[in-house]
Amino acid sequence: MNQKKIPNHIAIIMDGNGRWAKKRFQPRIFGHREGMKRVKEVVTYCSKVGVKALSLFAFSSENWNRPKQEVNFLMSLLEEYVKKEVKELADNNVKLKFIGDLQKIPERYFNLIKESEKKLEHCTGLHLNIALSYGGRQDILNAVKKICKKCSEKKCSESDIDEKFFSQYLYTAQIPDPDFLIRTSGEMRISNFFLWQLAYTEIYVTDTLWPDFSEKHLEKAIENYSQRERRFGKISEQLNEN
Ligand code: FPP
Repeated sequence: MNQKKIPNHIAIIMDGNGRWAKKRFQPRIFGHREGMKRVKEVVTYCSKVGVKALSLFAFSSENWNRPKQEVNFLMSLLEEYVKKEVKELADNNVKLKFIGDLQKIPERYFNLIKESEKKLEHCTGLHLNIALSYGGRQDILNAVKKICKKCSEKKCSESDIDEKFFSQYLYTAQIPDPDFLIRTSGEMRISNFFLWQLAYTEIYVTDTLWPDFSEKHLEKAIENYSQRERRFGKISEQLNEN
């Protein structure tokens, strides 16, 4: 492989399952099922090339408004993924974390995801975050509420609150911000994903629909990332200064 820079943290908005199915005159759930296969492949690939964290946007806080049948199918697909994959994730030393408003997840699935996280908590390889019932605004509001509560209990004060402090109250508390965001299916939107965390993330949008997004596409995306110059507001000439 001819890659110079591997992003430490990749975030993916896996979009286009419905359109992929529609093109084939199939129901939307057909696209979600195919999309699940790509999840497995992407996780294996990221593990193999040394990505440290992978965050997948699987179900947004707004996705609860989809037809009940589709919501139920997505929940059962997740159950299938977790049940099938937990052993292989363990073999690949992958640590799993679900992030989002998990209280909204039906109890049966909630218990299952908590059990799977527990089974993999000893793993030290790739951190796999699955964003479920997740919304970026809600993540920020949740953090604000926790900090307000702490301040009202006199456990912190206004002067403690800086970016680093604030980040520790987000769902992604333990992981550095994504270096690279991939969005499939060509939409130029963030769609309420990591609103705080994406401040300096490099963005890559491909027209490829998620169920078509193979290892080759990911390799090409990472190659593109390799060629980016990340200036974080500075100018090129300053980048090699200490
Ligand atoms: C967006 O495509 C995709 C989703 C809302 C669901 C993503 C789920 C998977 C990839 C499969 C299961 C995931 C895991 C982690 C096991 P869309 O339905 O909005 O597509 P469209 O924009 O073409 O309608």
